[in-house]
Amino acid sequence: MITSKPIPGILCVLIWMSIITRSQGAVIDAKQNGAKGDGVTDDSQAITSAWQSACSSPTPSKLLIPAGQYAVGPMTFLGPCKAPITVQFDGNLKAPTDLNKLKSQDGWIVFQQVDAMTLSGGVFDGQGKVAWSQNNCAQTGKCSNLPINIRFNKVTNSMVQGISSVDSKLFHMNILQCQNLTLSHITINAPGDSLNTDGIHIGRSSGITISDSDIKTGDDCVSMGDGSQQVTIERVTCGPGHGISVGSLGKYHDEQPVMGVFVRDCTFTNTMNGVRVKTWPASPNGVCQDLHFENLKMDNVGTPILIDQQYCPYGQCQAQAPSKVKISEVSFKGIHGTSSTKVAIKIACSKGIPCQNVELNDINLQYHGPDGNGVSQCVNVLPTMNGQIFPPACTETP
Ligand SMILES: *[C@@H]1O[C@H](CO)[C@@H](O)[C@H](O)[C@H]1NC(C)=O
Repeated sequence: MITSKPIPGILCVLIWMSIITRSQGAVIDAKQNGAKGDGVTDDSQAITSAWQSACSSPTPSKLLIPAGQYAVGPMTFLGPCKAPITVQFDGNLKAPTDLNKLKSQDGWIVFQQVDAMTLSGGVFDGQGKVAWSQNNCAQTGKCSNLPINIRFNKVTNSMVQGISSVDSKLFHMNILQCQNLTLSHITINAPGDSLNTDGIHIGRSSGITISDSDIKTGDDCVSMGDGSQQVTIERVTCGPGHGISVGSLGKYHDEQPVMGVFVRDCTFTNTMNGVRVKTWPASPNGVCQDLHFENLKMDNVGTPILIDQQYCPYGQCQAQAPSKVKISEVSFKGIHGTSSTKVAIKIACSKGIPCQNVELNDINLQYHGPDGNGVSQCVNVLPTMNGQIFPPACTETP
């Protein structure tokens, strides 16, 4: 016999209340906290204090920035927070054009020391056109102290989805000392000739995923600096831009290893390079291993496959001394499309520490120009080859 006891009404109410609290918690509305969202008033203070209320809530909370244009100076969303936090931008942020308002700031919008954050929506407009004409990065490689649009410093176990970064003054996004951070459905947009506007730079971080995103910018779409570990980049379109890069590595002492990089199912259109690994000559010892590039489409790309251990822009190094960054366990698999220059594949490894266990598998990169068909160049490496390789691998030395 089946008996059913009716659940007392009061218990139902308690369960219902706890579900509501867990799923929504406190909602802090930036406009109700004094933000104007009129595109003129400086809303930095109002938004920052709304963040502080949400962040200090002992139960999960949400900071809502409603529809509107918010003019804001540098802002830091600082944790740790007392409970998981959601930040929902339905409105757009605009950076100051007056560089004096950003003096000595390395980031415009900074998320720092936050755990269990979900960040969504919003356009972050860096208004960078002013900055691009004022710096001389192109000549010197040294950029004046312009701020990065969005910084994630020590952000852990978090998700960032559906945000856009437009016309940043320097890099669009920088991920530093983060763990378990996923960025999806990100849109990045700046002109192809805007200087040093890397899309997303990752350094000293692990468990980072970038997926389903569209990046159009003036420098690398994604770049991975030292200490990038277990990074996955998938279903990203890149171009204009300089491609997806590991490095440059070996410029500084105390650099951490790069290990576990997976780039798959991406499309490159009219980019300077496709996938590239670059290290400086005359470097300290370093490690760069376990890099896998798979199922990539190249459409009119400068050098679709590139390892360059003689990376030396602006003549700032002793190019004769070899790089001591050891590159190993690298695979390029299923890379198809067109090259816009004759050298479609260039694998130039260090004469001091040759690359080890590099695999080329199923490569078809077409180039037909006035100077003939495409070629592939290799030095200080003996790649393993599987499947069709076109242009035939390693027929020339750079
Ligand atoms: C990683 O972060 C997500 C939230 O984005 C969380 O659900 C998951 O449990 C975290 N993973 C680990 C291993 O902490």
